[in-house]
Amino acid sequence: MKRNGFCIWLTGLSGAGKTTISKKLIEYLKEDRFIEAMDGDEIRKGLSRDLGFSKADRNEHNRRVIFCTKLLVRNGVIVNVALISPYRETRAYAKEEIPNMIEVFVKAPLETCIERDPKGLYEKALAGEIKQFTGIDDPYEEPLEPDLIVETHKETVEESVQKILDKAKELGYL
Ligand code: ADX
Repeated sequence: MKRNGFCIWLTGLSGAGKTTISKKLIEYLKEDRFIEAMDGDEIRKGLSRDLGFSKADRNEHNRRVIFCTKLLVRNGVIVNVALISPYRETRAYAKEEIPNMIEVFVKAPLETCIERDPKGLYEKALAGEIKQFTGIDDPYEEPLEPDLIVETHKETVEESVQKILDKAKELGYL
């Protein structure tokens, strides 16, 4: 049976919980659907390995992901994108390009992300060892009207995942 693809686009600060949510979502959805993950760190090891963190580079990297996601979604695949994707304009472009995209703001206060610091990158950014770090000396433009907000400092991973699945069902994608 042919089924429609859709995209769950997770945007938020580094350490907000995008990858953690993505892994759980995929675990759940892969049982009976084709699903592909587009994780920022992973894509930057391959398709975007020539790109850094300037505005132009982030946008080019995001644009490549948008292109691939569009191809997959229109062939019935569920695509879970997990990118900081800090610019509103770029996310608006994603929404124009990708059919059935759900924009999910993975929200956590910057202080929480700094406390979690799973990769030790905030410490380096605060010490000035990494430049152009999102939230420290580079912008993150919060979504004004996301389809859904999950607040990872208040909810468990399971609760956030459930909210995303409920939203996909409500929109008729699942
Ligand atoms: S995006 O801004 O281009 O959409 P993306 O999600 O692909 O970001 O990559 C973010 C990841 O790259 C972070 O989780 C972190 O591990 C790493 N990283 C390294 N340098 C930076 C930086 N200057 N700003 C943000 N993330 C960085």
